[in-house]
Amino acid sequence: MILGDKIIINGLESNDLKERHLWLNDPEITYYFTNLGSIPTSKSDLEKWYENISAKRSQELHFSIFTKELKHIGGAQLKNIDWKNRSAELGIFIGDKSEWGKGYGTNATQCLIDFGFNELNLHRLWLRVDQDNLAALKCYQKAGFVQEGIFRAEVFRNGCFHDSVVMSVLNN
Ligand SMILES: CC(C)(COP(=O)(O)OP(=O)(O)OC[C@H]1O[C@@H](n2cnc3c(N)ncnc32)[C@H](O)[C@@H]1OP(=O)(O)O)[C@@H](O)C(=O)NCCC(=O)NCCS
Repeated sequence: MILGDKIIINGLESNDLKERHLWLNDPEITYYFTNLGSIPTSKSDLEKWYENISAKRSQELHFSIFTKELKHIGGAQLKNIDWKNRSAELGIFIGDKSEWGKGYGTNATQCLIDFGFNELNLHRLWLRVDQDNLAALKCYQKAGFVQEGIFRAEVFRNGCFHDSVVMSVLNN
């Protein structure tokens, strides 16, 4: 369990899949997802995916985000964990839209940075975010990420290609 000022992060449990399934099929939530996560996911595919995640724990870790009142509000992950170069790709979503804009995304990002650096001994966390996803850009900046560059026309969304912003935070 990772304790933040505003949120609690736990390992993803099978009990969390029901809400995750709803969230991952909500186009408002997945609108800016830069990967295959924006494609609708069936409950059985999600369950099969969950059955396999423990076998991949050396490369990716999946989490659920809760308020202090233990309300399940979203998910997060550290993927592409590179133990030699001590880096990982961070991802986050607040699936409960009624909880957007309350600082939970920023606090969850801060907690994962702290966990990545101080528990996993990682040196660099990075991510890619759609350049139009202003809430995410702000959330990551507030947590300490800085822009590294642009991947041009990386994301196909709503009929055309969009740039994505590459961001990272280093443990100096
Ligand atoms: C992006 C996301 C994680 C942000 O989480 P959140 O809890 O809503 O964000 P926070 O409350 O921590 O707010 C972060 C900052 O963004 C600002 N913000 C929120 N929505 C905004 C918007 N639409 N435009 C501009 N800024 C916005 C907030 O005002 C806040 O800045 P402030 O503290 O200076 O006021 C959440 O909105 C989300 O999960 N969206 C859908 C999934 C997604 O896009 N994930 C990221 C994929 S890379």
